[in-house]
Amino acid sequence: MSTETSPATTPPAAVVVLAAGQGTRMKSARPKVLHAVGGRTLLGHAMAAGRALAPQHLAVVVRHGRDLVAAEVERVDPQALVVDQDDVPGTGRAAQVGLAALDAHVGGELTGAVVVTASDVPLLDGATLGQLVAAHHADGNAVTVLTTVVEDATGYGRIVREDGTGDVLAIVEHKDATDEQRQVREINTSIFVFDADVLRRGLASVTQDNAQGEMYLTDVVAFARAEGRPVRAVITDDPTSVEGTNDRLALSVLGAELNRRTLERWMLEGVTVVDPGSTWVDVDVELAPDVTLLPGTQLHGATKVEGGATIGPDTTLTDVEVGAGATVVRTHGSLSVIGAGASVGPFAYLRPGTVLGDKGKIGTFVETKNAEIGAGSKVPHLSYIGDATIGEGSNIGAATVTLNYDGVNKHRTTIGSHAKVGGDNMLVAPVTVGDGAYTAAGSVITRDVPAGALGVSRAQQRNVEGWVERKRPGTAAADAAAAARRAEGQHNSTTTDDGVAPTEGSSN
Ligand code: UD1
Ligand code: CA
Repeated sequence: MSTETSPATTPPAAVVVLAAGQGTRMKSARPKVLHAVGGRTLLGHAMAAGRALAPQHLAVVVRHGRDLVAAEVERVDPQALVVDQDDVPGTGRAAQVGLAALDAHVGGELTGAVVVTASDVPLLDGATLGQLVAAHHADGNAVTVLTTVVEDATGYGRIVREDGTGDVLAIVEHKDATDEQRQVREINTSIFVFDADVLRRGLASVTQDNAQGEMYLTDVVAFARAEGRPVRAVITDDPTSVEGTNDRLALSVLGAELNRRTLERWMLEGVTVVDPGSTWVDVDVELAPDVTLLPGTQLHGATKVEGGATIGPDTTLTDVEVGAGATVVRTHGSLSVIGAGASVGPFAYLRPGTVLGDKGKIGTFVETKNAEIGAGSKVPHLSYIGDATIGEGSNIGAATVTLNYDGVNKHRTTIGSHAKVGGDNMLVAPVTVGDGAYTAAGSVITRDVPAGALGVSRAQQRNVEGWVERKRPGTAAADAAAAARRAEGQHNSTTTDDGVAPTEGSSN
């Protein structure tokens, strides 16, 4: 995403992400900040926005669900500092322990701009934070707060502005506000830039003497003003971009809006999205111009689709690379690679480790796993191909299965190039079918088939003449058999089929 690359402004000394809150309204065993939208946790979004500023340090303050949240911090960004909040409640305490940890980390007092942000604001991007930091420096502020104007400000901290200058005098929490202050619809988003020194000394003066018995970060504003230092607000005209995720309803609404913005961005980059309402694309997915996404498509994780490929309808891909011009129809896939010009589905299941070569085919009702299928090779119908390597230009007959599991261990099936495996073969691994080899339809292949050989493994057919008329007299089958015999004016052929039709598999 363009907003997550180089910073548009002087990098701040540090970003502190406040992620210690409980989030009780999610009604979840999982910490709020570990709920995800757009393929990223709320915490992941906050950290990405912070990282986009290229700060010298990034700290995340944790407490509720501490170990899970700390693990996510580490997973997202091993460079980030995990800081534990103690049992003193409030955003002020969270910022204070964050700053103290940064001071300890630098071995002195951190100086410069410190961005403090909430951890539950998934649509906040690096560009918005960058503008806030730029305004902070340009105006020479001690504190710069990002605000927005909402219809219903109930529950939020209100921005109290000075008559005349419009500068910020204070932020008053809803529970502590007067009736007059509650009329204010400009609210604190919990996204700030502070001068480190003002923040440190301000927090040292903050008490828990308020309606909620918490240390309020917002009280640092009045502290700065009392010192005669300027505090100003930047109003965003995009309230959604700073909206917190307090419950599952907000999670779904913000998730849908994030998706809408992601799709809008890709459409403007040349991607056709036939039905944005039923198409979901995670923020880290990469799409090339002239990709077409048909209805019901979901692209997750690090999925990457090259130009001219068509995905869908009704396809879910997670961490899948799709080559140029490939088509992927009604498919569920993960951790797989689909080559250029290849064709997958309808109704294919690509499990991790599937690598389909250029112009290859994984067709209808086919499941693959840990399988390399070479360029131009085809597995068109009703197959399971697991723990297998298939060379180039080979064809696997319908309903063929690689039996990779002996009940204890997994084994590999190797099929060479330009081989033709017959329909309904059971390939009992470990086993190899050589280059250019054929196998007969219905074979159970337990021994290697050398290059160029025909592998056959099945009982010969025997026809018992007249059996139906003798054993099932009076049935429709017997009547049909008798009619056929009369029409032919003779008995059925008495020969038995001992020929071996080579593959009997479909080749398309
Ligand atoms: C806070 C602001 C309020 C603002 C609102 C925006 C204060 C006192 N109030 O309200 O002005 O309008 O956000 O949503 O700052 N957190 C901690 N440790 C804590 C408490 C909170 O790390 O002890 C973190 C939370 O994880 C969250 C952020 O701080 O990321 C905001 O906490 P939340 O409880 O949502 O904010 P409020 O206090 O309701
Ligand atoms: Ca909140």
